[in-house]
Amino acid sequence: MINWHDDLPDIKPKYLAITKLIKSLIQEEKLLPGQRLPSERKLAQLFEVDRSTVTRALLELTSSGLLIKKSGSGTYISQLPQLHALPTRVNWHLFLENNKTSYSSYQSKITQTRALDNGKILDAAGNELPMELIPNLGSLQMNWQSFLLAQKQSQDAGYLPLIQTIGHIHEQKKQFKLNDQTLLITGGAQQALLLVLRSLLNVGDSVAFAQPSYFNSSAIFKTVGVRTFPIPLTDTGMDLNILEDVILKHRIKLLILNPTFQNPTGEIISLEQRQRILKLCQEYQIAIIEDDVFGWLVDSKDEVPTFKSLAPENVIYISSLSKLLGSSTRIGSIVAPETIGQRLLQVQKKLDIVPSMLAQVMANLALTDETLNAEINKLTKELTTRRNNITKILQNLKPDWNFKTPKGGFYLWIKQSDPDIFEKLLKENILVKPGPIYGTTKQDFRFNFANFDLDKQKKLRSALAKDK
Ligand SMILES: Cc1ncc(COP(=O)(O)O)c(C=O)c1O
Repeated sequence: MINWHDDLPDIKPKYLAITKLIKSLIQEEKLLPGQRLPSERKLAQLFEVDRSTVTRALLELTSSGLLIKKSGSGTYISQLPQLHALPTRVNWHLFLENNKTSYSSYQSKITQTRALDNGKILDAAGNELPMELIPNLGSLQMNWQSFLLAQKQSQDAGYLPLIQTIGHIHEQKKQFKLNDQTLLITGGAQQALLLVLRSLLNVGDSVAFAQPSYFNSSAIFKTVGVRTFPIPLTDTGMDLNILEDVILKHRIKLLILNPTFQNPTGEIISLEQRQRILKLCQEYQIAIIEDDVFGWLVDSKDEVPTFKSLAPENVIYISSLSKLLGSSTRIGSIVAPETIGQRLLQVQKKLDIVPSMLAQVMANLALTDETLNAEINKLTKELTTRRNNITKILQNLKPDWNFKTPKGGFYLWIKQSDPDIFEKLLKENILVKPGPIYGTTKQDFRFNFANFDLDKQKKLRSALAKDK
């Protein structure tokens, strides 16, 4: 509601005050392009000024292109208000302020510290594997002619041999069967998630995910304009009473889960909890997105049936090569019920976010390399050794740090009582990811142990011993 008289700036002459007010109303979008202004007579009454004063102000605004006079019908805000009449310099600061989050300062401190790395940083803040642990697949051969030929095998869903390879791996690992499902290749898991949200949701729709969760700091929810609701993780898994409450209050459409080696807790959701979550979601007709980016690293003895295998029609399954071959690989995949898969393909094409053929051909070479399985075994063994050594160091030197030892993955989720832990560890050159990034408190933090070879383990031990 515009308060014409009271909002008039206290300046003279009066016609200038009127032009200033109308300009700022346009700038603040309280007056919109195409909107009709009250008549001159009415404006004179509203402003409590002479009609000639209003006429003069409107004339000024018309000649600067902000208003348009249509004879016989009145004065309108121009469809394209000439912005040169308004301050010409964009206030970039406002854009930056708008995008600030409660954890931005941590992110930038982590980035700055890495940039200044003097070789002393013990980096436990990474999301992925260190380079030295990425499977060594020797010399993958791709010649130009075979690449050109490969392009003939490109389909809407991606490079056919890669689709077949990934499908075969899912079936071989007994993760699920591909009957009546579409498998499509994406540019990583993040892009897969963006595609699913863009294809299935409208602005203002609601989704839920765990707290803490990697998804808490993902920009895609804001990009798509969906509302997010955190569901606390307790010692026994996701709080299903709160989940049901949130479902009922906020008409949740999708539940997004990262059920195996969850980022950041490293937990695996038990079969019993998976079944309870599924039952609840089936009762309220909620689709599940299963983000299984760490699925490559799970030992067969610890494997729990995927949500996708338990309810193929209700679950969209997302995977990626980022946690196995490095995040710059930018290759991921989605497995969705056919009707949904077709929709995803249409949107992917429309948005032109089809992943590069070059990357797809290379990914297929890597996934069909005969040494891959042996390399994955080597990797998981080394991760277990690093995890065991790091947990021993922490248990000895930091008995007040509480964590559960995860069965695999890269992360320890540590709880302790000092809210300044991030800064204090940074002083010791130890970089971790604090809880607010994942939607919890400053007392929690995530520690990526994958990066700690024997030398770094030794350095960590002395840094923490000094701090004792
Ligand atoms: C749970 C989870 N999902 C998705 C991603 C993003 O994966 P990608 O690099 O394939 O986009 C990550 C990366 O850290 C992750 O931890």
